[in-house]
Amino acid sequence: MRIEISNLNFRYRDNPPLFQDVNLSIPLQKWVAITGNSGSGKTSLAKLISGLIKPESGRIVFQRNEFPRNEFPRNEIPNSRVHFGYLFQNPDDQFVHFNIEREVAFNLENRNVDPAVMKEKVKLSLTEIGLLRRKSDSPNNLSGGEKQRLALAGMMISQPDVLVLDEPCAFLDIFTQIQLYQKIDELRKKKVSILWITQEDHEIKMADYVIHLDEGRVIFTGSSEDYIKYFGMSDGKA
Ligand SMILES: Nc1ncnc2c1ncn2[C@@H]1O[C@H](COP(=O)(O)OP(=O)(O)O)[C@@H](O)[C@H]1O
Ligand SMILES: [Mg+2]
Repeated sequence: MRIEISNLNFRYRDNPPLFQDVNLSIPLQKWVAITGNSGSGKTSLAKLISGLIKPESGRIVFQRNEFPRNEFPRNEIPNSRVHFGYLFQNPDDQFVHFNIEREVAFNLENRNVDPAVMKEKVKLSLTEIGLLRRKSDSPNNLSGGEKQRLALAGMMISQPDVLVLDEPCAFLDIFTQIQLYQKIDELRKKKVSILWITQEDHEIKMADYVIHLDEGRVIFTGSSEDYIKYFGMSDGKA
């Protein structure tokens, strides 16, 4: 499975174009790192893929290629029908409720989940992240690591097809970072699709596939091994 992007054009209102005729094929069911300097367009690309913002023109489609094309002629799925989970760079941008339990539960609303099942799922999810006893508390009172765990749990509970994580470690201490890497590694083994935005060499190294942006242009795509050969690694992080 892949996300196929063709002739993508995008600009923010009254700004020069950010993406001009971008073509990109992103493998799924893998840990994919999207990297590049600040302002290179990583967040914008992730938001376009997830449908949070709309392109000026171009196509972004989800391609199921595990079946021969002749058997399943309707191989392509519009991205609007793919379920994305988006983890914002700052977990504070993620939360819409003033109650931890509601925060997780709302991800299951409008998804035809039976209320009793929903309650059980939420309980299980809060138990897993060690926040069940604090379910009536506000997300604002959590530590950075707890906020990130809550945001991730909220995202995971609805079992998205693709997880998008925007520099998820920016606000985390090293121990919480390592826990997150382990979690993502587990998900990768379960063939969950992960788009991970990062500027950190040691995180790029963990990914299966790397996309490097520079001022809205895709300047590298390939395995993390090839990425390291091509760009080298900063000292101490490799
Ligand atoms: N909402 C916005 N309105 C106008 N310009 C924006 C907006 N968001 C981002 N930009 C600009 O688009 C470019 C790419 O930004 P972004 O996608 O956030 O890059 P990155 O995530 O790689 O730092 C930058 O020049 C940034 O200033
Ligand atoms: Mg960004």
